[in-house]
Amino acid sequence: MEKAEGRNQTPIMEFLLLGFGNVPELQPLLSFVFLVIYIVTVAGNILIVALVATDQHLHIPMYYLLGNLSCVEICHTSIILPRLLATLLTGDKTISVKGCIVQLYFFGILSTTEPLLLTAMSYDRYLAICNPLCYAALMNGRVCFKLVAACWISSILACTIVNVFMFQLMFCDSKEIDHFFCDFSPMIKLSCGDTQNLQLVTFTIAAIGTLVPFLLTLTSYICIIATILRIPSTLGRQKAFSTCSSHLIVLTVFYGTVITIYVFPKAKTPKVLHKIFSLFYTVLTPMINPVIYSLRNKEVNESLRKAILKLAVFRNRHRSLKDIFLHIVK
Ligand SMILES: *[C@@H]1O[C@H](CO)[C@@H](O)[C@H](O)[C@H]1NC(C)=O
Repeated sequence: MEKAEGRNQTPIMEFLLLGFGNVPELQPLLSFVFLVIYIVTVAGNILIVALVATDQHLHIPMYYLLGNLSCVEICHTSIILPRLLATLLTGDKTISVKGCIVQLYFFGILSTTEPLLLTAMSYDRYLAICNPLCYAALMNGRVCFKLVAACWISSILACTIVNVFMFQLMFCDSKEIDHFFCDFSPMIKLSCGDTQNLQLVTFTIAAIGTLVPFLLTLTSYICIIATILRIPSTLGRQKAFSTCSSHLIVLTVFYGTVITIYVFPKAKTPKVLHKIFSLFYTVLTPMINPVIYSLRNKEVNESLRKAILKLAVFRNRHRSLKDIFLHIVK
């Protein structure tokens, strides 16, 4: 109460996103690094989506889910990095309050959808390895579509509820957000109304949205690994494991960073370290996924090789057509 009285009560229309502080010498390097990361992430994920869309061999639930995950990653980086790059290049750190809430809204939807999709992927692997006889009945195009729709709809619903309240908040304490994007907790600190209920609701949704997928994924993988260990032949074991190893790596990277962020208490960790951890899960995870899948997954690898081959043949054919044309002209 005392604190509220001491606050400046004129509502704020703009925030300042402090980003990585004021080190002018570092700006060109940071801009370059983030630009490269952005291009690599978007290109890699578009490649995955294109392969899944065009290659008949990848028209199965496992790769539909992967394609959707890549869509999430493309949007995830596109919400954060272009804005960060613009700030680094122009030096203009202001963002309107509405703009900030919209960024938070989309960031929330994508961060909620990602663990749900990862869970759907583990469920698919669980059925394929632990229940192969029922796989075709329990997991097919229609079921996969329903799962994907459920992931998107539930996260959109949950985030819409939170954001309806966010839009009603007034911000009047200070303009400065010491982060590189509009995240929930730094924003809520600047609000001048009573936010306890909102914080409670958000915390509950976030906890359920992370913990339930995590436990389901963990259970699926315990069953998967137990089943694989029971396969008598080494070759069979390797074969079964190869279909889920890339997913397992993606899962480890994702939950590894999420757990690191939750385990390190915010108050005790230096701000810089917290920003670096946030960078990991907002910027680096989306970049790593396509790399893991195109390097480690045999089918994606094969599909990529075929696509490159086709492109080369197409170019050669193009060239020979041009030769013929030139020949005729001559
Ligand atoms: C996402 O999943 C749906 C449902 O299975 C599928 O039809 C669609 O092709 C997927 N999207 C991508 C980009 O793979």
